[in-house]
Amino acid sequence: MRLPDPALVVLVGASGSGKSTWATARYRAAEIVSSDALRGVVGSGEHDLDASADAFTMLEQVVAARLGRGLTTVVDTLGTDAARRRRWLDAARAAGLPTVAVVLATPAAVCRSRNAARDRPVPARVLTSQLAGVAAAATQLPAEGWHVVRVAPEETAPERDEVVTEPPLDRGTGLRGVVLQLSRFPAEGDLLAWLRDVADAAEAAGLAGIALMDHLIQIPQVGRAWDPIPEPWVTLGALAASTTRLQLGTLVTPVTFREPGITAKAAATLSALSGGRAFVGVGAGWWEREHAAYGLGFPSGRERLDALERGVELMRALWAPGTKPYAGRRVSLPETTSYPRPVGRIPVIVGGGGVRSLRIAARLGDGCNVPSDDNGLAKVEHYLELVRAQGRDVSEVHATVLDLPLVGSDRDDVWARVERHRGRTAAAAFAAGHHAGTAAEHADRLARLAERGVTTAFVAPVGLATADEVFALAPLASAFG
Ligand code: UTP
Ligand code: MG
Repeated sequence: MRLPDPALVVLVGASGSGKSTWATARYRAAEIVSSDALRGVVGSGEHDLDASADAFTMLEQVVAARLGRGLTTVVDTLGTDAARRRRWLDAARAAGLPTVAVVLATPAAVCRSRNAARDRPVPARVLTSQLAGVAAAATQLPAEGWHVVRVAPEETAPERDEVVTEPPLDRGTGLRGVVLQLSRFPAEGDLLAWLRDVADAAEAAGLAGIALMDHLIQIPQVGRAWDPIPEPWVTLGALAASTTRLQLGTLVTPVTFREPGITAKAAATLSALSGGRAFVGVGAGWWEREHAAYGLGFPSGRERLDALERGVELMRALWAPGTKPYAGRRVSLPETTSYPRPVGRIPVIVGGGGVRSLRIAARLGDGCNVPSDDNGLAKVEHYLELVRAQGRDVSEVHATVLDLPLVGSDRDDVWARVERHRGRTAAAAFAAGHHAGTAAEHADRLARLAERGVTTAFVAPVGLATADEVFALAPLASAFG
């Protein structure tokens, strides 16, 4: 079971019980505040007991400063002083951080023999009193108000996150699972070669598909206005030619850019070119600037939602078999002649968590798309209720979320990326907002979303730039079962 993160983590254990080993196997050096290390900073070495008072003064300062910033803080001291534990607990609570106590319950004989093997062993009677102190602390901890009290296994073999080396290869039937959303593209070099590398990596990693953002100017949430953002249908055509298994589509294309009939034509063509791997994520559009720059109208929100509703109905009409006239509630067409025909049903995912978007998604679409936060999950529930209220089978629809994880190869890499990408946002807030963590940690998180009815995560990792970073998403592929 994973510990909460960020969190205050207080270690409790005698000399030689393995506290520092436990901590360094799991946390970055900067996250561990160790009284021994601070003795080495303010004194002659890690075991300079004369420097204890200064070392603990510094330790308290570092702990308070880190907790105040909402940063993970692992306190590596004996941990047997109840008054100190109380102070750290209070500081973490004040900072709104979860609190964890970890008891290193290593057998006394093991501590003794490790201690004896050291350059400067702790005197035997001191170790005996430490062991008694740890035993006493272990009985006190449950009543102290920690969120988690963990007794570490006697032999804590340092455990790193396991990487799935065998990506599941028989996936790719439909839009269920993890779909990589591409929103940043290289400014220099061969765009087609880059796309092929990324697509190869996505297939090898067992991802379900690739979705392209549809914007005319790069949006400020992702990059600078002069960063490249290729037209999606053209780009998806190139991806169709270089892949065999990935689902391919937009997330999302705004109805304000192209008349929906033209989008229906593009998607049907993509479906034909790719052997039925096309999907359409569609929304009402939101960014006025790109419309103005390209000479497009930007009607009111209500009108855009009307257009979205009509657009989904119209696309469906054109994709339906035959060429007969169509007379629906919002749309009528004199004929529905559209060839090539799509291969199978093209899933239409309606983006946007507004009441009306969800209704359109439930009535006319094959799925919704909402953010992956708690608010988004509430919308997923609402969407599934609406689907049931329509008399539709929830197993036929896609409850999709847009997820913007910060993914690193290990804890050091994660936090280097937080620093690189956080801009002016506080590190802890940025890390929390993007669930900063390793691929294995994100896989756990996505598996929990799956338990709440989410079928598909469109994943757009913060700062994703290389095919290797795409392949590193392999552990996520199995999150949806
Ligand atoms: P640590 O140096 O991690 O113990 O391990 P500690 O609790 O932090 O000790 P103090 O309080 O700072 O003195 C002690 C020795 O035990 C080995 C480590 O390699 C180290 O030499 N060890 C630790 C293991 O062999 N296996 C383990 O699972 C943990
Ligand atoms: Mg230590």
